[in-house]
Amino acid sequence: MTNEHYSYQPREGHGLPHDPLNAIIGPRPIGWISSHDGQGNHNLAPYSFFNCFNYTPPVIGFASSGWKDSVANISRTGEFVWNLVTRPLAEAMNASSAALPPDGDEFTYAGLKMLPAVEVAACRVAESPVHFECRLTQCLRLQDADGRELDSWLVLGEVVRVHIDPRLLTDGVYQTSQAQPVLRAGGPSAYYGISDEQRFDLFRPQLP
Ligand SMILES: Cc1cc2nc3c(=O)[nH]c(=O)nc-3n(C[C@H](O)[C@H](O)[C@H](O)COP(=O)(O)O)c2cc1C
Repeated sequence: MTNEHYSYQPREGHGLPHDPLNAIIGPRPIGWISSHDGQGNHNLAPYSFFNCFNYTPPVIGFASSGWKDSVANISRTGEFVWNLVTRPLAEAMNASSAALPPDGDEFTYAGLKMLPAVEVAACRVAESPVHFECRLTQCLRLQDADGRELDSWLVLGEVVRVHIDPRLLTDGVYQTSQAQPVLRAGGPSAYYGISDEQRFDLFRPQLP
């Protein structure tokens, strides 16, 4: 047993059977993003390069490896909806990642119903218990450390309306584990759920 780290430069390759990046930065929440093309075609796709980046106003974002339909739609219409993926919806979420043509409807393909949104024309996933309606704030092309443009796009949007199934609110407090969120890990297939047994609490240090 050695205490030396396995070390590599990603540009030169990882030298492992699987790239460990997604397994290390994991599990990740999933941005289940619904959008439309402005011509009546609705789109739905999961993005695990996803997170929340600001509280007030809330700003969420996802990254697309390549100029995919979601990015094309959102850059054109300036709006999208984020839908929470729960364990009962995991298989449908996975089905919605199919590379359908731009006018293909992943809602129907994945057996999901559309629910109109209030602030935007993109649809909500009716079966999902939480939705964030968003307006595009920035669509950034990512660069490498030498300033070379990558074929990757970070889409950021302000959350302009939140919908929460009231069964997930106990005395007004959102119950994270009760929602059974699905989290993406590494490799071609790994996901995690969460449980209350794994919860612990820490409060930030208060300086005198
Ligand atoms: C759980 C999961 C997470 C994914 N995360 C990403 C991601 O972060 N970035 C990406 O470009 N593709 C990701 N994909 C693949 C896209 O969902 C897939 O390319 C999809 O067809 C894109 O749809 P669109 O062209 O309608 O936007 C993911 C797929 C799955 C199943």
